[in-house]
Amino acid sequence: MSRELSLAEIFQLGYYWETKILLTAVRLDVFSALDGKRKTLPDLAGRLGVHGETLGLLLNALVAMRLLKKEGEFYENAAVAATHLVRSSAQYVGHLLLLHDAEWDNWGKLEQTIRTGKRSVDRHVFETDPDLGGNVLAVLHRIGQQSGPDLAKRLQLRGPVRFLDLGGGAGTNAIAFCQAYPELSATVFDLPATLRLTERTVKDAGLESRIALLPGDFNKDGLGGPYDVALMSDILHYQEFSTNASLVKRVWAQLAPGGRLVIKDRFLNEAGTGPAWTTAFAVHILVNTERGGCYKTADAIQWMADAGFVNVTELEPSAVVQGIKSREV
Ligand SMILES: C[S@@+](CC[C@H](N)C(=O)[O-])C[C@H]1O[C@@H](n2cnc3c(N)ncnc32)[C@H](O)[C@@H]1O
Repeated sequence: MSRELSLAEIFQLGYYWETKILLTAVRLDVFSALDGKRKTLPDLAGRLGVHGETLGLLLNALVAMRLLKKEGEFYENAAVAATHLVRSSAQYVGHLLLLHDAEWDNWGKLEQTIRTGKRSVDRHVFETDPDLGGNVLAVLHRIGQQSGPDLAKRLQLRGPVRFLDLGGGAGTNAIAFCQAYPELSATVFDLPATLRLTERTVKDAGLESRIALLPGDFNKDGLGGPYDVALMSDILHYQEFSTNASLVKRVWAQLAPGGRLVIKDRFLNEAGTGPAWTTAFAVHILVNTERGGCYKTADAIQWMADAGFVNVTELEPSAVVQGIKSREV
């Protein structure tokens, strides 16, 4: 059994000041203004067009948080901030932090949501701000490039597989699958706005001849096909249970006999109390989506079984479920 929390840890859990200081600095783009240069407070305030004295308090806190350094009157970026928080850096991750900041007001409505059971948002920030959504997907593509190859290897595919990456985003998985299997050809199905980003990532990977882009709404439009393998990675938690059940049926119809569907998501355990990150993610989905939810592995197994898949198995606990479309259909 895990040990009891200390009082200090309870205080730490309730402490968000530094979070908002960092998010505000990213919004003001403090780190880009200091790119490669040391600056005094008046100089930096002038450059950012903000109030000098108050900016000083923010900068001093950032120094204490080890994101900036201060020597005499001069501020400069710490190495980690220069790498990840300066917009022109190839390893910039600020878009992900800007997403958290854009969701800040929604978190303020959590109490009301719990009291009433009513969601406070009617559209996810990816819909209200598609540019931010695209930028976030690009960051996730860059930092998540290891999970695609691992999944590709685990599936042990052979021959000229026709692969569907449904809601494939930046094409991270389609690219990894093409790189793992030289005979595989992929289709990334996603919303037209997202595919603008996918076009770039696929081109950067030199895979334009093997990855087709299919624009549409996966709940309404034709999905192409037939396919031998379909992947639904991190798309179902944005939707309600019945929509997911219908979508799994639509995918079953587009698979060739003997084909398989792989669902990769953040599943909760049976009690709903783990994995720890996913329990908090479930609350995040509650406050930031109109109908989304974190589901259990058993839910994914049910969607697949109801759609007609056989040999439905959990390939990775709380993460990956696979079902086969029988050859006798
Ligand atoms: C969290 S991202 C997951 C991206 C990718 N599958 C991955 O695992 O990296 C969710 C994706 O679903 C797409 N999406 C959401 N609703 C959609 C819809 N109705 N039709 C098609 N794509 C959709 C979004 O554009 C986005 O690319």
